[in-house]
Amino acid sequence: MSNVLVTGHLGYIGAHLVEVLQAAGHTVTGCDLGLFSGCNWKPLTAPDKEILGDVANLTEQDLDGIDAICHLAAISNDPMGDLDPGITLQVNRDASVELARRAKAAGVERFLFSGSCSVYGAGDKLDLTETDPLRPLTAYAQSKIESEELIGRLAGDGFSPAYLRNATAYGDSPMLRIDLVVNNLLASALSYGEIRIKSDGSPWRPLIHCRDIARAFLAFVEAPVESIHNQAINIGGNSENYQVRNVGDLVQELIPKASIVYTGEVGEDPRNYRVSFDKLSQALPDFELEYDLRRGMEELHKSMVDHGFSAADFEGDQFVRLRTLRKQLDKLTRVA
Ligand SMILES: NC(=O)c1ccc[n+]([C@@H]2O[C@H](COP(=O)([O-])OP(=O)(O)OC[C@H]3O[C@@H](n4cnc5c(N)ncnc54)[C@H](O)[C@@H]3O)[C@@H](O)[C@H]2O)c1
Repeated sequence: MSNVLVTGHLGYIGAHLVEVLQAAGHTVTGCDLGLFSGCNWKPLTAPDKEILGDVANLTEQDLDGIDAICHLAAISNDPMGDLDPGITLQVNRDASVELARRAKAAGVERFLFSGSCSVYGAGDKLDLTETDPLRPLTAYAQSKIESEELIGRLAGDGFSPAYLRNATAYGDSPMLRIDLVVNNLLASALSYGEIRIKSDGSPWRPLIHCRDIARAFLAFVEAPVESIHNQAINIGGNSENYQVRNVGDLVQELIPKASIVYTGEVGEDPRNYRVSFDKLSQALPDFELEYDLRRGMEELHKSMVDHGFSAADFEGDQFVRLRTLRKQLDKLTRVA
């Protein structure tokens, strides 16, 4: 059993990860700045030890005795990254590289970086693999690429980083977000009876349930080190690539009275990528997704109905990271 540090443990994915790691018998330390504290809609599982603060302030002493770090703390999506690209690079890249450097110095053996399939950006072919060219379209994607490269320079005997290039997450979490495409379409259908698709619906997106990302981190914590050492690996499933319009159709099946509306507000969405997950199956043959999109959406739909999810929830700050972050920017600029 390992001592695992989870950064960003109070976020959408981190909230699952604490529970998944503890259930597998690992001891979890959480570190989070609490940018979205109070935004949870269900109780959170407490880590064994909690550090409420900036990852940039973690010392080698804090990392003493840690076997693996799951590094999730970040400014976590494209629009948030565009709000202030400088802060995105400072938090997502500079603080990540510095944490990896301190981890190596403290003798931490694994550094598991929460990357993103958005590094592929405007894919010029389908079924992109880890060796295909990266075409970042946003500061967020750029920060993930540069982190992989800079952290990779630290890899060596006794220090094994790995980069989980996660598909776009969806599904229920105690720290629900509705600023991710699937959750957003479901939430708008429930709130307004309209499935508001911002593009023409054609872009491809690889999708994964947020709990399956947490399960992938667990698999990376427990994998033979040679399977993951300094590897970038796409996290998702080949059958879980969808065009946005397919997601809209699934929402309509769940909420038949909702109509599909193409708002056209993003014009032709250049973020278009269908991704291959073959390398994941080769590296970790025992890992399988627990959810497909239909099952994950049914579960979230039920949860939202039970919660009485309303237009006020849709319009409010609680479930939309960008709205809360705008208010928190001063906190981040103070620490950056
Ligand atoms: N959600 C997705 O679709 C998705 C997809 C691919 C990759 N990822 C990556 O996974 C990670 C987690 O994403 P999420 O959806 O859970 O995001 P989230 O915004 O819900 O959670 C991020 C957490 O990190 C914390 N944080 C931010 N800066 C910090 C700092 N400097 N020090 C300490 N804590 C800090 C925040 O307070 C927050 O609790 C991120 O790195 C994100 O880029 C997410």
